[in-house]
Amino acid sequence: MKKDKTPDLKTGRNDPCFCGSGLKYKKCCLGKANIKPQSIKDLYFRKHQIRLKEPRDIEGIKKAGKIGLDLLNLIEEKLGPGMYTEEINKLSHEFLAKNGAKSASLHYKGFPKSVCVSVNEVICHGIPGKRIIKDGDIINVDITPILNGYYADVNKTFFIGTPGENAKKIVKVSKESMKAGIAMVRPNNTIGDIGWAIQTYAEGQGCSVVSDFVGHGVGFMFHEPPQVPHFGKKGEGVILVPGMVFTIEPMINLGKKDVRILDDKWTAVTADGSLSAQFEQTILVTEYGFESLTPFE
Ligand code: MF3
Ligand code: CO
Ligand code: CO
Repeated sequence: MKKDKTPDLKTGRNDPCFCGSGLKYKKCCLGKANIKPQSIKDLYFRKHQIRLKEPRDIEGIKKAGKIGLDLLNLIEEKLGPGMYTEEINKLSHEFLAKNGAKSASLHYKGFPKSVCVSVNEVICHGIPGKRIIKDGDIINVDITPILNGYYADVNKTFFIGTPGENAKKIVKVSKESMKAGIAMVRPNNTIGDIGWAIQTYAEGQGCSVVSDFVGHGVGFMFHEPPQVPHFGKKGEGVILVPGMVFTIEPMINLGKKDVRILDDKWTAVTADGSLSAQFEQTILVTEYGFESLTPFE
């Protein structure tokens, strides 16, 4: 029989109680007529600590996302060989300020810059600085703008000059991986379905999926529940319901998935030195499917 994936609003007698007590429902809120989950919103917060978003929240996240997208377009225009990665940080910091936004990355757990800039073998969390980008490089820029208290999270990988075959391949596979994950987003699918689709596609292309970093809920904070792994099994994990907002941001390596962290405590590189690429969007679960709050082709 196919597993029933309808959200269980009628908590079973032997299920953990929705109030989070850790007791069985029958030993806890069952029978206390005045304590009932009011709605899916209430249930998702109690059960999973997931805060579903209202239409006004979604508008707020979209506006933050638009600033991120506009900034990525500006960066793409300015990128070229000979540039320091720090120049991208400076441009970003100024652009965010000019638009009334802040960067969630700046000073996050000690991260010293306003954007992450990750070149070639750098998987993510590259710190902008004195590295000079050169013809043939691939470069990921990850931006998390905060506007009016709302957070969006978006990243893209760009080519510098003329890409080689390996660069073309990893950028294509990582973008298609993100799209394969997004295509799974609809009510009654699960978080595991997203990871399964990404892993199946990426490994089918002979690439590997980084498992040390995951997507995440976003909107009211930088990182909210749930975690969104880019690998996994169909049907596992939290059931998707309208109003959930989270990122899908697979990091895909041309070689093995293993990660090494540099002495700066942030920069994550491929252990085998192979190329790595990433694309990220902030995705809303809607009544019938999904809407990207940071859409790009
Ligand atoms: N924006 C990244 C993400 O997609 C995380 C950056 S962490 C930071 O989740 F500290 F480097 F900002
Ligand atoms: Co993210
Ligand atoms: Co990001």
